[in-house]
Amino acid sequence: MIPQSFIHDLLNRVNIIDTIDRHISLKKSGANYVACCPFHNEKTPSFMVSPTKQFYHCFGCGAHGNVISFLIEYSGLGFVDAVEELAASVGMQVPKQQSDAKASVRSPSNEQNENAVITVQDLLTVMRTATQFYREQLKHSEKAIAYLKERGLTGETAARFGIGYAPDDWNNLATLFADYKSEKTKETLIRAGLVISGEEGKQYDRFRDRIMFPILNQKGQIIAFGGRAIGQGEPKYLNSPETDLFVKGQEIYNLFSARKAIRDAGCIIVVEGYMDVVALSQYGIDYAVATLGTSTTGNHIQKLLRQSDKIVFCFDGDNAGKKAAWRALENSLAQLTDGKTIHFLFLPEGEDPDSYVRQNGKAMFEQQIAQSIPLSEFLLLELTRDLNLQASENRAKLIRDAKPLLQLIKAPALMLMLLKRLSGMCDLDQSELKTLLQIKHAAPARMQKHIPRKQPISPYHWLILLLLFNPGYYHALDQKLVMRSDDINEELALLKFLVEFLNTRPDIVNSASTVSVLTYFQDSPHKALLEKIESEILDLDDKMDLEAEFSGALKKLQEMQRKKRMSELHNKPLSLLTDDEKRELKRLATY
Ligand code: UTP
Ligand code: MN
Repeated sequence: MIPQSFIHDLLNRVNIIDTIDRHISLKKSGANYVACCPFHNEKTPSFMVSPTKQFYHCFGCGAHGNVISFLIEYSGLGFVDAVEELAASVGMQVPKQQSDAKASVRSPSNEQNENAVITVQDLLTVMRTATQFYREQLKHSEKAIAYLKERGLTGETAARFGIGYAPDDWNNLATLFADYKSEKTKETLIRAGLVISGEEGKQYDRFRDRIMFPILNQKGQIIAFGGRAIGQGEPKYLNSPETDLFVKGQEIYNLFSARKAIRDAGCIIVVEGYMDVVALSQYGIDYAVATLGTSTTGNHIQKLLRQSDKIVFCFDGDNAGKKAAWRALENSLAQLTDGKTIHFLFLPEGEDPDSYVRQNGKAMFEQQIAQSIPLSEFLLLELTRDLNLQASENRAKLIRDAKPLLQLIKAPALMLMLLKRLSGMCDLDQSELKTLLQIKHAAPARMQKHIPRKQPISPYHWLILLLLFNPGYYHALDQKLVMRSDDINEELALLKFLVEFLNTRPDIVNSASTVSVLTYFQDSPHKALLEKIESEILDLDDKMDLEAEFSGALKKLQEMQRKKRMSELHNKPLSLLTDDEKRELKRLATY
């Protein structure tokens, strides 16, 4: 979608140090900059950013990438959003290519209106204007102020969350937008989900007589609203529909504003409602977020685990709360890695975080958080609830119920611990249990991929590493030699990929300086390997004669091919060798 040449220019223009330093503060250390890694918990800094190589690497958890991957990982942005944010930071404009379906939305082919293209920017602008309007209206509505006061909210908190009030009128927005007559404005408001176009083309405001909670995405843009009825109205909460800005089941209320508090606390609290988040914040707990009227999805959990190693789900103590917690548990299992923890907190029946914190205060709430139970505990508690494990039949039932859940787990240590507990409960040894559960070895977690390897580095690996370090070596490369190699080997496959890529990029070759090419390999099956090898550039010793290393690797490659061909020929009975092959063998042997 975005032209590669643009990404290349962008990477040239931005400085990774500035960008990362805007998010976490970097300290200079020798030629590089260091910080405590934002991707895992640590006390001593092992996160390193190289200004000359323009990438970061964490020696603790293996996080690695360039400035674009940083924004993707750190801010949870998509690729396109990350590029846009970076471009904006250096005053560049991302060129729009056709079929840029997400960024611009053609209005339906309506004759007078054929040319009106509504962009995401247009949608964001009306959302902002509407938010301002609703906030202003709150100041003038005694009824709305009284409601919020009765719920214990201060004006300061309401302002911090941008809370507003949509007056009880069908046409607030028509009056607000002076150019409402224009088809484009109308269409924009409809597409933003603020105005409903009913039968016979009648248009009216979606939100009327409601307290308005703006919902921000991870860039801090207002993309939707939740509107609460004042008092008894139905539905209690009316949310924006899905729009080009707002995809339900992905967004998390307050995640943008809570980021710093989350990092400071080392933990995220996930609650069920808007009011829970707001009330907790008023009492000084700023690291709470909420899903938006949907159950917690795997996608939510992935997003949350990127921001913190610890999540505490805080649900009501009633049955609905238990159910919601169980859904969250099911969706978490596949996302867990060792080193990440998920806890559950159940408040006393009839309480939600809002009512609890108002009655008991911050300290008591945090004490509850400290006593929350780990996921593994909740899992076993629920599975064995009302089950008398004296009876073999019940132990069999436990295993049957546990099976589909345990099969989702990819974290090896967690798996092991659960197996231990279960085998104790069921009076089986672990290998019997594993067979029953049909569990193979748990897949290695992401953290393990950077275990230092003692194996000698293959020439393919060396060539990739050196080409990445200095694409200028491309000129010294014997391409035929590389392309002729036919090992089944991922490093060779990547090397061929890289050579083909450099064939098309004389600009990179001629720059003869390290660039992170990772960005161009987003969809490549070899991305993980590339990431790993790129990270090794940081370890390259500048004192090594790298040119000699490069030609050495090429020689080795040649040698490997020679030996391989020789053994092929040797394996053929002499009588079957053609004259050409005999000559080849002789040449190879005296090489
Ligand atoms: P609750 O009904 O538990 O909300 O719904 P709450 O935050 O405690 O509401 P108050 O305290 O009565 O104001 C939890 C969440 O579920 C979604 C909203 O996101 C709400 O915050 N919800 C609830 C809806 O989307 N629609 C509804 O009608 C009700
Ligand atoms: Mn509530």
